[in-house]
Amino acid sequence: MALTDDLQQFTAEAEARFAAAADPAALEAVRVALIGSNGREKELAKAFAAAPPEDKRALGPVFNAAKQAAKAAFEAAKARLSAAAEDQPVDLSLPVARQRAGSIHPVSQVAAEVEEVFASMGYEVADGPHVELDEFNFTRLNIPADHPARDHQDTFWLDHPQHGRGARLLRTHTSAVQSRSYPRLKPPFRRVVVGTVFRYEAVDATHDNTFHQVEGFLVDQDITVAHLVGTIRTMLTALLKRDDIEVRLRPSFFPFVEPGFEVDVRLTKADPASRFARWMELLGCGMIHPQVLTAGGIDPEAWQGFAFGLGLERLVMIRHGIADIRVMNGADLRSLRQFGAGTAL
Ligand code: PHE
Repeated sequence: MALTDDLQQFTAEAEARFAAAADPAALEAVRVALIGSNGREKELAKAFAAAPPEDKRALGPVFNAAKQAAKAAFEAAKARLSAAAEDQPVDLSLPVARQRAGSIHPVSQVAAEVEEVFASMGYEVADGPHVELDEFNFTRLNIPADHPARDHQDTFWLDHPQHGRGARLLRTHTSAVQSRSYPRLKPPFRRVVVGTVFRYEAVDATHDNTFHQVEGFLVDQDITVAHLVGTIRTMLTALLKRDDIEVRLRPSFFPFVEPGFEVDVRLTKADPASRFARWMELLGCGMIHPQVLTAGGIDPEAWQGFAFGLGLERLVMIRHGIADIRVMNGADLRSLRQFGAGTAL
């Protein structure tokens, strides 16, 4: 019977070829050819299945014996090769191949931590579009048409500003997410936004045309500046990971808050000669202006809230003692590798 011959030949071939396999790659090639899912054994199994029923009784044991022999030859070769591998001397003095795992960008790292800190205080994380309408970026934030923030100097306009509320621009601050959010939210609520913003500015050590801001806002009852200050302190302590942060509030003007403040920080344990020992302007904040609440459909007689916004890059610079913002938004991996989280060897 031809199939019996084929099976015997298969057995002999398996035994010879597995025994001859000199390394794991060769062994694998033989395994695939003979007993792999498209190998010779599968062809023989098909032939066996197609054999006349009266032949199968005699063929069955021959077929099983061939399968077992091939499997045993494979296992023996595998054991032989792994024993040989263990016998190889290992040179512990050889240099290790460098693993270049990626690392998290320092700005992304702080962004994730901001979201975590605020989530732990019950804030909802939100974002809005980078291409924003004048309506949300300016008008509903009580920024009048002649306010310098709308200037060609500051804003990347996608439409002519004369189009009014419908003119498109690249958002200049994450405060746009406040005005976008108000009509959709029912107080009380608290939200935090971490996102990219754009300003038409000359790039230098402390300014970039594309950077990131954190915006936090909360609307509830009986909210005061004390809640705002407490929230800012909690955020800074968690993010800067220091116990020497001193905070100072100065009255300041932002059209969408009243009263408005600028918050400065300094690090009392920093080297007295460094800029971190001197007051640094870090963020803007205040109580949400009644007109902003009204424009968002919220009754300012019943509800109050606070809002604050700060540049993430500035926070990262203080945290890592980086003097130049361009280090972060440039693509020089030598700097980014130093500051990112999870940096490899
Ligand atoms: N949007 C302001 C800025 O970009 C910061 C700010 C946010 C100020 C919220 C007050 C309240 O400068």
